[in-house]
Amino acid sequence: MKFFIDTANLEQIKSAAAMGVLDGVTTNPSLAAKETTPYRELLAEICKVVPGPVSAEVLATEYDGMMKEAKELAAIADNIVVKIPTILEGLKAIKSLTEEGIHTNATLVFSPSQALLVAKAGASYVSPFIGRLDDVSTHGMELIEQIVTIYHNYSFTTEVLVASVRHPMHVVEAALIGADVTTMPYSVLSKLIKHQLTDIGLEKFISDFKKAQQG
Ligand code: G3P
Repeated sequence: MKFFIDTANLEQIKSAAAMGVLDGVTTNPSLAAKETTPYRELLAEICKVVPGPVSAEVLATEYDGMMKEAKELAAIADNIVVKIPTILEGLKAIKSLTEEGIHTNATLVFSPSQALLVAKAGASYVSPFIGRLDDVSTHGMELIEQIVTIYHNYSFTTEVLVASVRHPMHVVEAALIGADVTTMPYSVLSKLIKHQLTDIGLEKFISDFKKAQQG
């Protein structure tokens, strides 16, 4: 499973890249709004740090505006993937952009029917938001199971990108289901390596060895 980081913060991206397990980045307008550097400038910087796919989102909600913005974003770097909202106008834009060779990420996906449509339109990635489904008393991970099954049934090449991840078990469950990618905040990425028994065991190994040397 590929690991993407879900942030527009350059320091977090650099730190995640240094861990050696980072395959790409996802951003969105809310994440961009937290940073002081203008979005497109920031995207150019991020693309220099991470050679893998970097998702950048359009703000337009009608076809012509989405196409214009998507082309501008795609011109920033070769590894830009354009995030398009999963609405009717977005579906048309995904189809056209795919035909023009621009990679797309269908965002704000909350149902298997949306996932089926964006795959048929040729999206490179589908982004189901599992944490936001959990927030409304629904099993977000069940949507991942459904999408993975549907895509497998028809050999769709659209990659399942698990988004709105809130904790390490979301990552583990996504991997068990066989999702292609999980994008996660820096806090979740950092927690994946942690285990208290590792820390306790390490401390004991070192103290046992030191005691033996002293004795
Ligand atoms: O980038 C899209 C998604 O991962 C947002 O997550 O935590 O705002 O629901 P969240």
